[in-house]
Amino acid sequence: MQKKYSNKRIKFSSCILGCGSYLPKKIVTNNDLSKKIDTSDEWIKTRTGIKQRYIASKNQLNSDLGFQAARKAIKNSKIKISDIDLIIVATSTPDHTFPSTATKIQAKLGLKKGFAFDVQAACSGFIYAISIADNYISNKQAKNVLVIGSEIFSRILDWNDRSTCVLFGDGAGAIVLSDNKKKNSGIISTELYSDGRFYDLLYVNGGVSSNQKSGHVKMKGKEVFRHAVEKLSNCIELSLKKNNLVKDQIDWIIPHQANKRIMDMTANKLGIPREKILITIDRYANTSSASIPLTLDYALSKKIIKRGQIVVLEAIGGGLTWGCSILKY
Ligand code: ACO
Repeated sequence: MQKKYSNKRIKFSSCILGCGSYLPKKIVTNNDLSKKIDTSDEWIKTRTGIKQRYIASKNQLNSDLGFQAARKAIKNSKIKISDIDLIIVATSTPDHTFPSTATKIQAKLGLKKGFAFDVQAACSGFIYAISIADNYISNKQAKNVLVIGSEIFSRILDWNDRSTCVLFGDGAGAIVLSDNKKKNSGIISTELYSDGRFYDLLYVNGGVSSNQKSGHVKMKGKEVFRHAVEKLSNCIELSLKKNNLVKDQIDWIIPHQANKRIMDMTANKLGIPREKILITIDRYANTSSASIPLTLDYALSKKIIKRGQIVVLEAIGGGLTWGCSILKY
């Protein structure tokens, strides 16, 4: 039998001070798409749970979305911009090949100190970024880390490929992770995995050293689906065990919003009630590394997640990369 979780055992190195998010103005519904390509609202809804997505305007860059989410996260954290000493942006759709989108956001915030960089782990990027931020904080190399997931996937979609273009949307979310000022809450544990043998299951067919193009998303959907349910449920099981937690203690799961059926099947496999799974895919679609902070911000703004509750964040994406993070809010 698994041991019961004890608060005393947990040494939190970083906690969430605040969260923020940003969605572009333009909404594109499934019916809008069905006027341009051979698809239907019914197909998209039943296969994925998606009803609509937000799409950035032509003049918006990734850094514009990330900056807006960052500003709100800092405001909700009740700290000054100058208190931020590290910015990490998880993204697969940066403004430029280099420099990082994180340095662009640093400049937009008017921040002249600290350091900033991007993380590339496709849809798992936000979990990777949390892990990195938590480590910098626990090593005392940073105190207040702005962790951003920001994506403009609409720019890397083939809008004639109905098997991929209906799945994604644009948006950004951000949190401020801080050294443990709020006692007895924060990141309990983050587990990261990757397996490059599955590189070709989900990738973009362009790149600097391959063909000097930005390319389009290519995906073997069925295989990704199968890996997602198996890898995410295993990852959460292992992490709970490692942290002496039992499933009943989980108050909420925030999955990467790739497909509602993946989220439901993962919950079923884990034996966790579906009511504990927070879902925004119906409104936002798959926003890759932005989907977890967007959903977290929604849940916090609606006061669905309360202080002291146990929340599991989990994601899988191209690489394949996957991982989960358990936290006490
Ligand atoms: N509208 C209508 N029909 C469609 C569409 C569409 N938009 N897309 C595909 N179809 C058709 C196919 O052509 C096929 O027709 P056929 O039977 O005549 O050949 C039929 O629908 C079934 O297609 P499948 O691909 O088998 O459909 P499936 O049930 O597997 O659903 C989906 C596809 C939704 C993509 C699913 O496989 C999935 O969600 N996979 C996982 C996606 C994911 O998790 N991505 C990870 C994160 S993304 C990232 O990291 C960047």
